Amino acid sequence: MQNIEQFVKRVMTYNVTVALLTGVGCCIGALVVLVKKINSHREMKEKIERARNRRDESLQQAEEVVLQYKQSHPTTDAAFIMSLSLSELTKQLKEGSLSPEDVLYSYIEKTLAVNKKLNCCTEILLESLDQLKTVGSNKEGLLYGVPVSIKENVAVKNHDCSCGVVINLDQPAEKDSVLVQVLKKQGAIPFVKTNLPQALWSFACSNPIYGKTVNPHNPQKTSGGSSGGEGALIGGGGSLLGIGSDLGGSIRIPASFCGICGFKPTSGRLSLQGLHSISRGQNLVLSSPGPMARDVDSLALCMQALLCDHMFSLDPTVPPLPFNMEIYRSAKPLRIGYLENNGYMQPFPSMARGIREIKALLEQAGHTVRLHHTQESEQTLLKGEPLDPIIKEQFFIYFLPKWLKKILSFLLKPVDYIHETIAHWRSYNIDVLLCPVPGPAYNASYCGRIPTLASCTVLYNLLNFPVGVVPVSTVTAEDEEELNHQQMLSKPFKAAMSGGEGLPVAVQCVALPWQDELCLRFMKELEQLVKQKKK
Ligand SMILES: *[C@@H]1O[C@H](CO)[C@@H](O)[C@H](O)[C@H]1NC(C)=O
Repeated sequence: MQNIEQFVKRVMTYNVTVALLTGVGCCIGALVVLVKKINSHREMKEKIERARNRRDESLQQAEEVVLQYKQSHPTTDAAFIMSLSLSELTKQLKEGSLSPEDVLYSYIEKTLAVNKKLNCCTEILLESLDQLKTVGSNKEGLLYGVPVSIKENVAVKNHDCSCGVVINLDQPAEKDSVLVQVLKKQGAIPFVKTNLPQALWSFACSNPIYGKTVNPHNPQKTSGGSSGGEGALIGGGGSLLGIGSDLGGSIRIPASFCGICGFKPTSGRLSLQGLHSISRGQNLVLSSPGPMARDVDSLALCMQALLCDHMFSLDPTVPPLPFNMEIYRSAKPLRIGYLENNGYMQPFPSMARGIREIKALLEQAGHTVRLHHTQESEQTLLKGEPLDPIIKEQFFIYFLPKWLKKILSFLLKPVDYIHETIAHWRSYNIDVLLCPVPGPAYNASYCGRIPTLASCTVLYNLLNFPVGVVPVSTVTAEDEEELNHQQMLSKPFKAAMSGGEGLPVAVQCVALPWQDELCLRFMKELEQLVKQKKK
């Protein structure tokens, strides 16, 4: 009897001890997890703080040196310098009637002012001031003395390429990307890095490190993404040439939203070395760096400058195709196809009007313009195709919007589609294609709710066609009125587009792969026709 009692007691004590120990163990475990979490949270916070400090210090130092420069050079006519187009500016720099110092300090001053309003810069590159001392040796360069802005994910030595993601901070690039090296060789002076959305994959330009960039034409609207810092800075007048990157529309959408020109070359034409994207090795949807600027001539000059022997030797994977000036300057009438929509997105009144007006102008100018039907190729590319079971099995697919699923199904046999599309262009006998681009700029908070936004830009990444954006008009009161009466458009669409009067309206110009010069020539043609019409 006593033995049993003792036994029970022992067992109880044992159980209590185990329970206690387990409890304590759990507590310690939870504590460790908590401490780790707090630590990593603190680490993150510190990383963000350091990055912001770097930005703020560079802004403050830039402000000081600009002030000093202005005091010691009171005759510098910054307003005059700002008013020059890139081709005028390069001419004056080459002739020596303007100095690279005057130009750079004037642009930094303007950039600081624009950044205060739009929050578009992630850092001023103060070493650009040192480059002034050596830039004289690149006097023959096509971009001698031209200040250039650079999107944050394009490597500049000693600066982060975070892509707006905190864990990527504090890993400064060991060397300049090939494009930055070539720009410098051509005499250009990279002077500022610009903001982008977190992980690049968004059409609103905001991240937890550097915050939100707003539209230069209306601060309630987004500047677009992912090259939204470039769009805002150039649109706001703080830069006249920038390097962005396009993965699904990320040069074209901010160009459209901010009222500037942007160009996505055929992927592969420009070096990708030193270009950071969040999904390394992801090249199904071909990404491409490209220029953004106030006018088409600037885009062409930038392409001409980049497509040089220096780039071909730095990156032998790039085909050594120099810029074909003859094609860019050609005046031969074009055979142009046009799309009113891409079958996925209801065109907004201003988008449709933009296309109609341009079509009329092109016809008056002697080009052949015809409606391009998309049913057989481009549209089947996004419609029709049943989803492969392998892809279907991946559970995440169910959460993706319909158009993205269709794109993924397309990815299973892209080559077929590219050839089909090219054959289709041939049967229509067209050189280039005119089509809508998303716009006008959306209210920032609505971007995430409009996934079809990218459907009419991502197509040309998939096909790997060169494509650019040119502003052609602005939203009128009638467009706004029509928008309110549109039955077809969903509520979030309408809300996102509301209050857009006066915002830029743009179009997309497309050419076949490797016909980058032809695409730019078509863009230039549109730009001139619009300019003439305004007169
Ligand atoms: C969107 O922004 C515009 C322009 O500033 C504003 O007038 C409108 O009220 C906003 N719409 C919504 C739904 O927030």
